[in-house]
Amino acid sequence: MTAATRQFEGCGAVVTGGATGIGGAIAERLAAEGASVLIADINAEGANQRAARIRDSGGTAAACATNVGELDQVQAMIQTAVDRWGRLDIIVNNAYPAMEAITGGAEDVPPDVYDRAMDVLVKASYLSARFGVPHLRRAGGGSIVNISSIHGLLVAPGALVYETGKAALIAATRQMAVEYGRDGIRVNAIAPGHIVTENIQAGIWDDNPSGFDFFTAQYPVGRCGRPEDIAAAVAFLCSRDASFITGHTLVVDGGHSLQIQENFGVAQAQYMRDHPDTQLPY
Ligand SMILES: NC(=O)c1ccc[n+]([C@@H]2O[C@H](COP(=O)([O-])OP(=O)(O)OC[C@H]3O[C@@H](n4cnc5c(N)ncnc54)[C@H](O)[C@@H]3O)[C@@H](O)[C@H]2O)c1
Repeated sequence: MTAATRQFEGCGAVVTGGATGIGGAIAERLAAEGASVLIADINAEGANQRAARIRDSGGTAAACATNVGELDQVQAMIQTAVDRWGRLDIIVNNAYPAMEAITGGAEDVPPDVYDRAMDVLVKASYLSARFGVPHLRRAGGGSIVNISSIHGLLVAPGALVYETGKAALIAATRQMAVEYGRDGIRVNAIAPGHIVTENIQAGIWDDNPSGFDFFTAQYPVGRCGRPEDIAAAVAFLCSRDASFITGHTLVVDGGHSLQIQENFGVAQAQYMRDHPDTQLPY
């Protein structure tokens, strides 16, 4: 484990969707900085493996099989964290449903799929606050971090549920920040750009390196994101250094979303002219 400080020593944390990807990195980072972390994921085996990995590195972690779209299970998740760690200081709402549940426009997405996806994308943050805030208050304050997306700020076609859900999460972040500020509870969101997780690497890029180069070329910093980039932003937002920051959506995208000008489209067209063998990702 590498971390500059153990600033979260004695803190109890919950990270949803922490079995893999960004949530896994967040759980590892918080644990490396001293937090006791409950990894709540619908993938119980993955959550157990991640918790074991943290323990093997000297951290404190446990797993909790949870579907964050279900009220009873979120209530149980919060209670498990409090029972295990004796207190709750940090909640990271990061879980998200599988791609097929969030792809398509209004005419494509069946109503029951819409509801289930929104339960995970949006309602889960309400449920974790409903059951978690009393414990954060009891701890003298704390931090909630909601993992949104640049898709919550800018839209892409064919992704009604994802764009709506991620925008709603930003709205909920702002509202809860105002609601709970006087309790010492800060509520912030993060809007990541393209973050190459193990699932994305295996699902898209292993078979399409030229497409990955095309994606990379869209990022002013010359690379796509890594789960650790988002974990570092979460650690900052939960830290004392961020004690005057609440209701904020921190864009962590290597500058990608700054570029919505005609020049960007021209640069993309130029790239394709220079790299005619590029295989597009979708
Ligand atoms: N990877 C990216 O490029 C990117 C970009 C912007 C935002 N995000 C956001 O970051 C978060 C994490 O994304 P990721 O790419 O690491 O995803 P991932 O698929 O690697 O991990 C998502 C995790 O959520 C879990 N999960 C799914 N449904 C659940 C449920 N109902 N209850 C509990 N857990 C559940 C999965 O088992 C998995 O462990 C998401 O909120 C996503 O929208 C990701």
